Amino acid sequence: MTLKPSTRSDIESFRALENLREANERVLRGENIIRLEAGQPCFGAPEKALEHARDVIKSDPRQGYTESLGMALLRDRIAVHYRNFYGIDLPYNRVAVTAASSTGFILTFLAAFDAGDKVAVTNPTYPAYRNILRSLNLEVVELETTAESNYQPTAALLEKSGKKFDGLIINSPANPTGAMIDGDELKKICAWCDANGVRLISDEAYHGVTYEDKAPTALQFSDNVIVTNTFSKYFAMTGWRLGWLVLPENMTDRIKRLAENLFVSPPTIAQHLAYKVFDHTDILDGYVRHYRTNRDILKTHLPEAGIKNLSAAKGAFYLYADLSDLTNDSEQFCRRMLDEAKVSATSGVDFDPKRGHTTMRLSYAGKPEDMQEACRRIKEWLE
Ligand SMILES: Cc1ncc(COP(=O)(O)O)c(C=O)c1O
Repeated sequence: MTLKPSTRSDIESFRALENLREANERVLRGENIIRLEAGQPCFGAPEKALEHARDVIKSDPRQGYTESLGMALLRDRIAVHYRNFYGIDLPYNRVAVTAASSTGFILTFLAAFDAGDKVAVTNPTYPAYRNILRSLNLEVVELETTAESNYQPTAALLEKSGKKFDGLIINSPANPTGAMIDGDELKKICAWCDANGVRLISDEAYHGVTYEDKAPTALQFSDNVIVTNTFSKYFAMTGWRLGWLVLPENMTDRIKRLAENLFVSPPTIAQHLAYKVFDHTDILDGYVRHYRTNRDILKTHLPEAGIKNLSAAKGAFYLYADLSDLTNDSEQFCRRMLDEAKVSATSGVDFDPKRGHTTMRLSYAGKPEDMQEACRRIKEWLE
C-alpha cells in the first residue's frame, strides 16, 4: 500500500538552491562556471573572529547546547549593535538567536499566525517566504510591485489593494531587486499595519549592505513589528547558520517555547563566532565596498552585453534584470546561459511566479574579475 505524503509539503523548489546544486556538480566535473546564482558572500568571517572560535573549540571541545534563545552574552551583544548602528535601546530579552533567519521565519510564522491566516508578500519576493507559509497552512496573498514603483510596497499600495490579510512581510534592501524602502515610507507602512491590525514582519537580512543610504529598521516605528535578521549576509557567516529575531515583549516567551521544542538551541560554536564578529565591522564594511564595485561593473557592462533593464540596486547584492526584449522563458534562458556561456544565474520565476518568465536575478557577491568575465561571456553568447 502506498501511503500518502502531506499536501502541505507539496511546495515549489527554491530554484536558486537547485541552481547552486547544479553549478556545484558542474564545477566538480571540471567545468569553469561563473557563479551568479546564489546570494552568498565570497568572503569568510574576519580572521580574528575565526581565531576566537578556534580557541573556544580548543578550550571546550564538548560544545554543548546553549539556552534555546541563544547565549545571553550574544543576545546582549546584538542589543548593543542596535544601540551602535541605529541608536535604539533594546532590552536584550527581546532578542532571540536562531539557526539563521530561515528558522527565524518558521518561529515567527508559528508564533504570529494560525493555520488559515493570510499573509501578504510583494512580488517579486524572496521565494522561501511563500513556500514556508504554504507548508504551514497559511494563505499567501500576493501584491504586485513594479520597477516604476521601486519594487517595494507603499502604505498607499496596501490601502489601494483592497485585500485583507493578517500579516505582511517586507524586505529592504530586497532580494531579488536590491530596492529599499526609505524611512518616511517605512513609518507609513508601520502605521498602516498598526491601524489595520496587520502583523508586520520586517526581514532586515541585508542591513549593512547598502550603497547610498543606511536602511532604517522598522523597530523605530512600531512596537508590534517582528524583525528577522541573519549573520549570513553582511557578517559573511553564511554556512554557520545563525541569525536573530527582535520581538515585541509579549512574544518572547512564546518564541522560547517554540524554539526549545522545535530546535532546542541554535549552533553553539556559531554563536561564539558571532559574538566576536561585531568587533570587525571595518573588515565587513570593506566587503560591502567590494560588492559595490561588483555592482558597478555589472551595471556598466551588462547593458553593453545586451542586458539593458536592470534594477536600481541600492543595497543587498542582486540585480534584477528585465529580459522581455530577449525572452519570454527565463528558465530556458538561464539554462542555455549556463550550458552555452557557462554563467549561472536564477530565473525570475523563483521570485515572481506570474511575471518572472521575463526576468532573471544576478547575484554579485563574488569576485570582481568574475563580474568582468561574466559580462564578457554573456556579450559573446548574446551576439
Ligand atoms: C531576503 C532573505 N531573507 C532571508 C534569507 C535566508 O538567509 P539565512 O537562512 O541564511 O539567514 C535570505 C537568503 O538568501 C534572503 O535573501
